[in-house]
Amino acid sequence: MHNVEDLLHQLTLEEKVSLLAGANFWETVPIERLGIPAIKVSDGPNGARGSGGFTDGVRAACFPVGIALASTWNLALVERIGQALAQEARTKGASVLLAPTVNLHRSPLNGRNFECYSEDPYLTGRIATAYIQGVQSQGVGATIKHFVCNDSEYQRNSISSEVDERTLRELYLAPFQMALQEARPWAIMASYNKVNGTFASENHRMLTAILRDEWGFEGLAISDWFGTQSTAASLNAGLDLEMPGPANWRGSKLRQAIAQGEVDEATLDVSVRRLLRLIERAGAFEHPQTGPEQAIDRPEHRALIRATAAEGMVLLKNAGSVLPLQPEKLTKLAVIGPNAKTAQIMAGGSAQVNAHYAITPFEALVERAGEQVQIGYELGSTNFKLAPLLDMDLLTEQGLHVEYFNNSDLSGAVVVHEHSHSSELLWLSSLPEHVDGQHFSARATGQFTPATSGRYTFSLISTGPARFALDGHEVIDNWTHREPGEAYFGMGSAESRYETKLTAGQMYALAFEYSKSPVVPIPAMRLGCIVPQPADAIERAAQLAADSDVALVFAGLSAEWESEGFDRPDLELVGRQNELIEAVVAANKKTVVILNTGSPIAMPWLAEVAAVVQAWYPGQECGHAISDVLFGDVNPSGKLSETFPLRLQDNPAYINYPGENGQVRYGEGIFIGYRYYEKKQVETLFPFGSGLSYTTFRYDSLSLSAREIGPTDTLSVSIDITNTGQRAGQEVVQLYIYDKTASVQRPEKELKGFAKVALEPGERQTVTLSIERAALAYYDILKRAWVAEAGEFEILVGSSSRAIHATGTFTLTETSHFGGVDQNERLSLNSTLGQLLAEPAAREVLMRYLPATFDVQQLNMASNWTLEQIANFAPDLLTPELLQRIAGDLKQLEEAL
Ligand code: BGC
Repeated sequence: MHNVEDLLHQLTLEEKVSLLAGANFWETVPIERLGIPAIKVSDGPNGARGSGGFTDGVRAACFPVGIALASTWNLALVERIGQALAQEARTKGASVLLAPTVNLHRSPLNGRNFECYSEDPYLTGRIATAYIQGVQSQGVGATIKHFVCNDSEYQRNSISSEVDERTLRELYLAPFQMALQEARPWAIMASYNKVNGTFASENHRMLTAILRDEWGFEGLAISDWFGTQSTAASLNAGLDLEMPGPANWRGSKLRQAIAQGEVDEATLDVSVRRLLRLIERAGAFEHPQTGPEQAIDRPEHRALIRATAAEGMVLLKNAGSVLPLQPEKLTKLAVIGPNAKTAQIMAGGSAQVNAHYAITPFEALVERAGEQVQIGYELGSTNFKLAPLLDMDLLTEQGLHVEYFNNSDLSGAVVVHEHSHSSELLWLSSLPEHVDGQHFSARATGQFTPATSGRYTFSLISTGPARFALDGHEVIDNWTHREPGEAYFGMGSAESRYETKLTAGQMYALAFEYSKSPVVPIPAMRLGCIVPQPADAIERAAQLAADSDVALVFAGLSAEWESEGFDRPDLELVGRQNELIEAVVAANKKTVVILNTGSPIAMPWLAEVAAVVQAWYPGQECGHAISDVLFGDVNPSGKLSETFPLRLQDNPAYINYPGENGQVRYGEGIFIGYRYYEKKQVETLFPFGSGLSYTTFRYDSLSLSAREIGPTDTLSVSIDITNTGQRAGQEVVQLYIYDKTASVQRPEKELKGFAKVALEPGERQTVTLSIERAALAYYDILKRAWVAEAGEFEILVGSSSRAIHATGTFTLTETSHFGGVDQNERLSLNSTLGQLLAEPAAREVLMRYLPATFDVQQLNMASNWTLEQIANFAPDLLTPELLQRIAGDLKQLEEAL
């Protein structure tokens, strides 16, 4: 038995310091002398990748992405996904999974929308709670992330999300608060961005005052990867662990900070204790995780992924009941589009895994439709963003020869030779043995024989100096100059391209070289090649559609468009896909569009096509799950967790997106997503919560358990749901609240309850949902507490935020406050500048007194300091007299509150 307190006493200062930064990319530092093992963590939300590369590590099960899970609105299913993910994490030797991601869909362009659940904090919080409970039921920890206001990727490492207090509380903090209190995740990950001027990773108010003092969180706070920004400030703010390792801001810098009195040893102990507790919870003292990472492809995970993926799909349109497909009535089926023979199982960034396998829609349809149905295929349009990786079949020995040098200029002896089956060389956490990770260079060579003659475009992207030579002539120079680009989390260069004519059957020598730059944490280079495209691709697809009974167009985006480090440019489908869909539907009215995206897109062809299925990125069972929905083996029951706007310009974040001068102002306040579309009565393409079924449902007999409730009462809301169609199906009953007599602005609908019911044809069930005070409250910035205000409330029950089928009213008889800030967060000279600035009234006081010379930049830098500390440091800026006056005003302010 290891006692955490005993261990803490036995650890030397040096050892304690060493524990507070990673040992490497994924593990903490072990202290063998005391039997303290390393803990391994692993990404991420839709699979446990392990320590290998994003897509070439040890294979793992690939689950549906976050938005697909949320679209199921099925908490039991999400919990099972969590359990399976924990089992997967164990096969990779990881005790902690770096998930779930609970940032909100503020803008549909956010590059990581796919990974997050919803534009609604309540739905997000419920899904996250189920997910975490599932993961942790298996003895694996969950890491809720990214705390907080990392709701777009634009300048994510530096931007300050400027959010008012009420919005912060009611929207962006809310899912964290719900999940922390209900599911108690073992860890939380601080985000890259600043929150109101202070980096989230050194934000005392977020990481300590709110997270720990108010919410009582006892787990470990870890940085996002390379997201630590300081030594003393981060630790003093409550950021326990710097990741990845080896230490950059900790280690010797932390020892020095302690020696200089900038960090107390007691503060160090608090963080070390949290880490030791996590090791204890993981059972790792008794059973340290060791051994190689394993790929275990379990049939039960396959089945769960298939069922969940299908249940998350949203049937957006189904005119003339073109779906479900009936094989007995089909002779010829047209399968068209870039996502038909490519399974878009996941999106990009750290959520990627090397999936056990990926079922394409084409394969699954062939399997399901049966031999009597003839299936034709046309690509129609591509949808790549980056030139595709080299086709290994066109290379001699199906690969590239890679040589490594332990210097930066490819000189001298080759240290290691390697054969690569990919033209993307990404050295994420592991390099071949004997290669010096900090100073190396590499040359990849291969013999390329094109299959067709025509114009080829080669492209090079790298995170440091790189160049490409064709037949011995350098044709792309990323060595002497690189334009900044988006790839590799924003560390990659822009794509440099070279176009040339090549002849079929002739062999060409390819060579591309890379030099690791000391400032680049992720060494990578990637050679792409666009092969000649047929000019009549769309005409051929339209012809196939004209000759078929039904045309299925598999369109959408990919991991290249939706990823980390950048956002989407707009809502459009890319390549010539819109044109393709228009041409196909002009040739055959029975056109069904199946979309793989992780966020809303514009659909200029919506009125023409017969049906649309939003399939998201559904994981490794992609094709099977889509086919299950198309053929009606699964009756669709997914509902949108994000509004699809008619135009990007309609989105409330639009005028404050992506931000400027290093700040993004959350100017729409609490009115994000449907809260805004409802308030302004703006038409949408598809509203929040909407989604069709192959059957129909009736809502009747709404009843409320009382007409009046007091602050401690629970109101029961019941409604009868009947399946009025011919097929068994599931319906998501949604309950929204409206505070009709509020003294502050309130949204006209706020989701506060939902239930998913399964009904046989003709079956009726009564659904009962409960409402408590918390569901009625808003955050009062003056009282600094939640307030449920006496007055009349409306209950709206429906099948989407727009389709309300029944309403009722009740009265809350008495106003009550709860969850207020602790006495120790009361404003005084002991508050940090960050705390004072976050309070509108206190901010005003400060602005009144601070001299003009004390500019905002300085304020941000000093946000973890108290006013007294600032006065000591800069007495000419903040004189004792000024300090006295500020203290007086703050006191008055406190009394007024
Ligand atoms: C992401 C995190 C992820 C981490 C480790 C970061 O780029 O923002 O979500 O867990 O990398 O891969």
